[in-house]
Amino acid sequence: MKSASRLVDAVQRLSLARDVGGVAAVVRDAARGLTGADGATLVLREGDLCHYVDEDAIAPLWKGRRLPIERSVSGWVIQNRAPAVIEDVLDDERVPAEVFKPTFVKSLAVVPIRAHAPVGAIGSYWAERHRATDEELWLLRVLADSAAAALENLRLYEELERRVVELDRAVHARDTFVAIAAHALKTPLTPLRLQIESALELVRARADGSAEAGEPTEPTEADKLGAKLESASRQVDRLGLLVGNLLDLTHIAFGRAGPRDAVGLRALVTDVIERSRPLVDRLDTPITLVDGAEVVGHWNRLRIELAVENVLSNALKFGEGKPVTIAIDSRDEIAELFVRDRGIGIAREHQSRIFEQFERAVPANHFGGLGLGLWVTRKIVEEHGGAIRVESENGRGSTFTLELPFARPEAHQ
Ligand SMILES: Nc1ncnc2c1ncn2[C@@H]1O[C@H](COP(=O)(O)OP(=O)(O)OP(=O)(O)O)[C@@H](O)[C@H]1O
Ligand SMILES: [Mg+2]
Repeated sequence: MKSASRLVDAVQRLSLARDVGGVAAVVRDAARGLTGADGATLVLREGDLCHYVDEDAIAPLWKGRRLPIERSVSGWVIQNRAPAVIEDVLDDERVPAEVFKPTFVKSLAVVPIRAHAPVGAIGSYWAERHRATDEELWLLRVLADSAAAALENLRLYEELERRVVELDRAVHARDTFVAIAAHALKTPLTPLRLQIESALELVRARADGSAEAGEPTEPTEADKLGAKLESASRQVDRLGLLVGNLLDLTHIAFGRAGPRDAVGLRALVTDVIERSRPLVDRLDTPITLVDGAEVVGHWNRLRIELAVENVLSNALKFGEGKPVTIAIDSRDEIAELFVRDRGIGIAREHQSRIFEQFERAVPANHFGGLGLGLWVTRKIVEEHGGAIRVESENGRGSTFTLELPFARPEAHQ
């Protein structure tokens, strides 16, 4: 019974081993203890060699050595897929006497690890003449089976780790690719927009000229061209937004924490509103920034601008042209920004999901977008130690609240 509980203990410890060294330590202790031997070894096959990985014995055996597979009993066991029980090492043709002569070993029992295709062997050695009993052999075999399972687990574990590293690399390569692609796409957009703008001006000048000349009021070639150019200009704006999104996404996915400065939130929001002017005018949506004191925090200006832009552009996009109200407040060293629209609103069941990547609560063909704006915003706010939340009802508008601690938590320490 004593050996049974010892065996159970060894099997349990083997299942927890995280490296070959761990497996070897359990095997060597258990093999010796279970068989009451004077020494035990763990051998692993390495091609044509037997590697004596570990041992526990009254005097040194072969730990760390690599013997040719034909010149060791373990090698014989591995090649023949059968155990070896030898009562007298100096009187057996499987045993190279010179290997044993310098050691204390008189008798031995060796079993293969993974009987059908051995990867190694476990040996017990006695200084006095001893014939290993069936029970001892059985204990060694169970130990060897458990060691085989543990080694197989290790292999799978290592394989898994290797795949995770590969996957990380692939994801990184993809992010790099997206970043480069986004930059490459962005570069020609500015000159393209300028070209379209100046073409539009030319066309408008011509249209004005012909209107003054009192020609017929039906659309002229110039009017048609103007309409096409305006549509092209809108598409370029749209492309700019999408590419911008792609860029933000890669910066944030890389987790780059940008530099921080003292930033006035009210001034920043005023800037963002000013910059949205072309879009606001086109949508004819009134935007009000409620009066109040400036709130200054230690933030990354560009990212906070981006966060505000994202929430404001949503209010404009989903606001059905109704007034948008922005308010800024502060409490307990936390700045609060409220962006309220009176548009389509968000059903309760979608409210948490919209902050995730690519999650949208509207049909793609109805409102353009990728479903990234709020995810990016959440990432930015969290990076600053803050939070974002929404209160909304279907059809009755939404209020997004951004909370930004004046300083990052770690900046206090
Ligand atoms: N003010 C709002 N009113 C109603 N629904 C909103 C509002 N803001 C966000 N949503 C919902 O949340 C979803 C996610 O918003 P998010 O800004 O992440 O993506 P998007 O605006 O659809 O696309 P993107 O910002 O990437 O261009 C939107 O698709 C919409 O369903
Ligand atoms: Mg958006």
